[in-house]
Amino acid sequence: MALEAVGSSPIFHPISILGCSQVVRHGTLTPACEGSNPSIPAICDPLAQPVEHLTFNQGVWSSNLQWVTRTKEAQDASFVLYFSIEEVPMRLFRQKTEVHLFNRTADFAREIQISSKDFILASRSAYEKYFLPLNLDAHVFYKSDYGKSEPTDLMVDALISDFIATGCDRIIAIGGGSVIDMAKILVVKDVTNAKDVFLRKIPIIKAHELVAVPTTCGAGSEVSAVSIISATARGTKVGLADEALIPDYAMLIPELLTEMPYEVFVTSAIDALIHALESYVCPKANYYSDLFCVESTRLIVNGFRRIIHEGEGVRQDLLQDFLLASNMAGIAFSNAGTGAVHAMSYPLSGQYNVTHGEACYQLFTSVFQEYHRVNPDGKIRRIESLLADILQCDAGEVFFELEEILNQIVPRHKLRDYGMCEADVELFVDNVFEMQQRLLAQSYVMLSKEAMIRIYRSLL
Ligand SMILES: [Fe+2]
Repeated sequence: MALEAVGSSPIFHPISILGCSQVVRHGTLTPACEGSNPSIPAICDPLAQPVEHLTFNQGVWSSNLQWVTRTKEAQDASFVLYFSIEEVPMRLFRQKTEVHLFNRTADFAREIQISSKDFILASRSAYEKYFLPLNLDAHVFYKSDYGKSEPTDLMVDALISDFIATGCDRIIAIGGGSVIDMAKILVVKDVTNAKDVFLRKIPIIKAHELVAVPTTCGAGSEVSAVSIISATARGTKVGLADEALIPDYAMLIPELLTEMPYEVFVTSAIDALIHALESYVCPKANYYSDLFCVESTRLIVNGFRRIIHEGEGVRQDLLQDFLLASNMAGIAFSNAGTGAVHAMSYPLSGQYNVTHGEACYQLFTSVFQEYHRVNPDGKIRRIESLLADILQCDAGEVFFELEEILNQIVPRHKLRDYGMCEADVELFVDNVFEMQQRLLAQSYVMLSKEAMIRIYRSLL
């Protein structure tokens, strides 16, 4: 089937396929005529929306569709694309990472036989407390030596230099999502800098084994194909998703979470909860990914209720539950996907250095209330029913109830508290539209700019 796509810029701006009456859920784009441009990377997410809403954006990866040609450029600022679409089988589920659970850190170290050929990137506090006493013979680097913030392209560049200098074979990442996301870039063959990888200027070929050991219970990075860093010059976050980045092993060690400060623990867990819920309503979700969403949601919400009733200290009894829940939510979003909550959180993190889980928390219930407002009868109804069971409330009240619970766990801030002001609102929305098309396209519903402006304003 031939499709026509129109847009306002030949390469750099998002474009939309318009005027197609048929909804195409899965397919492969192939050139309809000559003019292939191999310099344009794989682009879009095919499963997210009816084709009328499907968007392509420079630099966004897809496992199923590839933008392979730009066949005709019209005058000035407009152009036309022609594609043919070929139906291909849909992959329902993938779980490449082996997941292991250890009672003690020493058991883990013994199991994988750490040696001088291992390059360890670690969170300093976790490593010093649990790994230093083991006297491991490996090259150890701390994430904090590269910077205190969430990872940036400049920090990854410095890390790559250190990795190359050691000549190590295997990479072991011990830390939160930031540490694991940074370490993922090291697996790429012949990598010399972050920009080449994130802009796909070099082929993304896996050259090293990666062992991921999470020390938080939120990111799910230990099983995902995604690495997210801040692009210093752009003031926002950029993501790369590629199967080459998937860790070979996820090693879950609950005792590593023991020292997490309460607020870090709960904002991480809220991030995991959002992964589960956004994945559940993602148009790419299916029965397989739903299983992980539901169980993860159940563990986290029930854990939060216990913390409210029994106090912060009880979390020490729940570390394994939260670690498993975070891991399952990671498996869920690796097969479905996160959406507008994450998309809208990124300018907040990029501009005002708000940590990832905390930034997502600020947007979470408002975005889901907007999802409900736009389409109350879609899949969101099922998650509302599930949450109503867990929370023992009316299905129509679940997001208010959830907001209440989360506020008891950790109070939500006003966005003004971080420095955001009215003048930022439209800039943030423009930034989300320009940079986060991959996430917007896999949201439950496509939020309009007006809706996003309304959400940011309501949270100021
Ligand atoms: Fe997240």
